[in-house]
Amino acid sequence: MMFGFLRSGGEFMKMTAVKIKALKGVHKIATLTAYDYLTARYVDEAGIPLVLVGDSLGMTVLGYETTLPVTMDEMVHHTAAVARGVKDALVVADMPFMSYQGTLEHALENAGRFIKEGRADAVKIEGGAMRVDLIERLVANGIPVLGHIGLLPQSVKETGFRMQGKTDDSARKLIDDALALEQAGVFAVVLECVPAELAQKITAALKVPTIGIGAGPHCDGQVLVFTDLLGLGHGHVPGFVKKFADLKPQIESALATYKKEVEASAFPER
Ligand code: KIV
Repeated sequence: MMFGFLRSGGEFMKMTAVKIKALKGVHKIATLTAYDYLTARYVDEAGIPLVLVGDSLGMTVLGYETTLPVTMDEMVHHTAAVARGVKDALVVADMPFMSYQGTLEHALENAGRFIKEGRADAVKIEGGAMRVDLIERLVANGIPVLGHIGLLPQSVKETGFRMQGKTDDSARKLIDDALALEQAGVFAVVLECVPAELAQKITAALKVPTIGIGAGPHCDGQVLVFTDLLGLGHGHVPGFVKKFADLKPQIESALATYKKEVEASAFPER
């Protein structure tokens, strides 16, 4: 079943959107954000098949309070750096706020920049049924699309940072949104901050994989933010995050020791 996906050592071969889609029900899909050449090298060399250049970079590496100020130029610059660090993973670029909410022509032009200048393999777009025309247009032009529903960070001014799909009506709407995205041609759907039982229902209803974040264990894959996973960040970390390492104190201690040794003429040694 995995023939054509894995090298003899067990690591994934160069991923495509089609291959990611085919992993549903066969292999859970680990996904991680990366923001530059350095982080991309780590993620790709770990054999993680899907790398997201998330607009979360606005907070994690650019120092903004939300994703809203992130520009196309910033995203393209970081995507190109990530692409230079990746050999096998599928590189997905997050389309930033107001790069796709206007005309279809404007959105197509911006998505095209990610492929041509950023060397991305696909783009991600936030929103459900209202994005169907855009997704169809991008896919028809050869640009694979990763959908994203549930908590939408680009809509926080309207929704706040809270779990979505808790009422029967909003859960029904999310199921309809997921089906509409699949119909429009996405190769997978990110489910952010929705109840685990709802994520399970959506996962069962779709033929394309679901990639969860704060959406419980039943999704076809999981995505985390690089700095959250490693305990590197300075900002708020959501409660669902598991820190797989706690690197911040180690970095702080190394830097303090370096400063002390330079100031005491202990480094370099004579
Ligand atoms: O911007 C981002 O990093 C994201 C993921 C967390 C899904 O959208």
